[in-house]
Amino acid sequence: MAARLTLADVNLRFGGVTVLTDVGFEVEPGQVFGLVGPNGAGKTSLFNCISGHYKPTSGSIRIDGEEVAGSAPSTLNKRGLARTFQHPALQLNHTVLENVMLGSHTRLPGGPLTWSLRLPPTGRREREVRDEAMTMLEDQGLGWAAHSRADELSHGLHKAIELCRARMSHPSLLLLDEPAAGLSHGEVEQLMATVRHLTRNGELTVVIVEHNMGLISALTDSVVILNYGSKLMQGTAAEAQADPRVIEAYIGTEAADDVA
Ligand SMILES: Nc1ncnc2c1ncn2[C@@H]1O[C@H](COP(=O)(O)OP(=O)(O)O)[C@@H](O)[C@H]1O
Ligand SMILES: [Mg+2]
Repeated sequence: MAARLTLADVNLRFGGVTVLTDVGFEVEPGQVFGLVGPNGAGKTSLFNCISGHYKPTSGSIRIDGEEVAGSAPSTLNKRGLARTFQHPALQLNHTVLENVMLGSHTRLPGGPLTWSLRLPPTGRREREVRDEAMTMLEDQGLGWAAHSRADELSHGLHKAIELCRARMSHPSLLLLDEPAAGLSHGEVEQLMATVRHLTRNGELTVVIVEHNMGLISALTDSVVILNYGSKLMQGTAAEAQADPRVIEAYIGTEAADDVA
C-alpha cells in the first residue's frame, strides 16, 4: 500500500543558520512528487528530516497520518520509508549483491560480514533475500555485476545499485535525491523506466529531488519548488517551469555561481 506523506510547518535550524522555514505539502498515495530548487535550497535537508537523519526544529511530518518527525531512520525504514542519497553511500569493499541485500536488513538478521563469508546460505530467509536481490539486479540488466566489488564500478552503476538496495525493504514511500545526477542519457532513460515500473500499480509513493526538468516533467504528478528553505510554489511541472519566480530563483543562483 502506497503511503501518504504530510508535512506541515517544518522548520530546521542549525545554531544561527536557518535551513528550512515553514515547509508544508502533502503527497498523495501513489503519486510521483517532485522537489525542485536551486543548490542550497534545502532539498536534501528536507529529505533528511523525512528519513530521520535530521530532527526538525519544529513542525509535523506524518506518514499515513502518524507523526514520525524525530523518529530514527531504522524506525522509519520499518515503517515503509526507503531512500537513496545524493552521493551514493555503498559499502565499497563489499560486492554489489551484498550491497543490495543490505537494503533488506530490517527483514534479515546478520549483515554483510556474515553474508560475505560465502558459506552456503543457511537460513531460508537469507536465501530468499539473496534470490530477490539477484532477480532485481538481473531485471536492471546488472546481473553481470552482482559479484563485483562496488568500488570497481562507475558512478552510474552506484546510483542504480543504490536504488535496488532501497527497493529491497519493500517501501511504500521512496525518496530519491538527485537520482539522475551524473548519469548518461541511456542511464537516465533506464531510471525513468524503473520509476514508471515501480509506480505503475499505484502501490508506491515516490518523492524525487532533481534538477533534470525533462525527468521531472515526464514522471511527476506535482512539484514543490523550494528556494532558500521556503516553499516558493506548488503545481505541475509545466506550471513550475512557466512561473517567473521559479525562473528567477534558478537564474539568480546561476548568476551568483558566476560571481563566486
Ligand atoms: N548539518 C548541517 N549543519 C549546518 N548546515 C547545514 C547542515 N545540513 C545542511 N546545511 C545547510 O543547509 C543548506 C541547504 O543544504 P541542502 O539541504 O544540502 O540543499 P540542497 O539539497 O537543496 O542543495 C545549506 O546552506 C547547507 O549548508
Ligand atoms: Mg541536495
